[in-house]
Amino acid sequence: MVEWTTEERAIIQGIFSKLDYDTVGPESLARCLIVYPWTQRYFGKFGNLYNADTILANPMLGKHGTVVLRGLLTAVNNMDDIKNAYTQLSELHSETLHVDPGNFRLLADCLTVIVAGKMKAEFTPEVQAALQKFLSVVVSALSRQYH
Ligand code: HEM
Repeated sequence: MVEWTTEERAIIQGIFSKLDYDTVGPESLARCLIVYPWTQRYFGKFGNLYNADTILANPMLGKHGTVVLRGLLTAVNNMDDIKNAYTQLSELHSETLHVDPGNFRLLADCLTVIVAGKMKAEFTPEVQAALQKFLSVVVSALSRQYH
């Protein structure tokens, strides 16, 4: 089981209570699709995602970016049992969506870049370390139902 210090808990709760989900979610997903273009293959029904200048104007991408970011609240609200909290979401990505689990880390890193850009000086080494630990646990939990 993952142990969290009081400070780490406060940092994670703080980040996710202040985030603007409707901008950080879409911007993180868009960054992932631009930097790692093969990830676009999972979002065929979203239409053309190739143009980095217009990708954020895609309403389906915007909506899904917010859904994904809100999906992280499951982990924020279940920090002591993230693995079990994500059983169904992991199954969905594995068995239904067939998303290669290596992509979870890529999206997590893109999210980190966007959050750092928003928090600016508040994104201290302690905040970075806590967020990295949190996202690592999320990535590992989402990868758990892959066989
Ligand atoms: C759907 C969360 C990473 C591809 C979803 C949904 C959530 C979610 C909450 C909606 C599930 C539902 O409708 O019940 C997350 C989280 C991720 C993550 C928290 C990691 C931090 C990824 C990655 C990819 C991906 C890396 C592909 C590169 C998809 C696809 C759908 C989906 C294709 C279905 C979209 C649709 O048909 O509307 N994800 N996801 N996810 N996710 Fe993820």
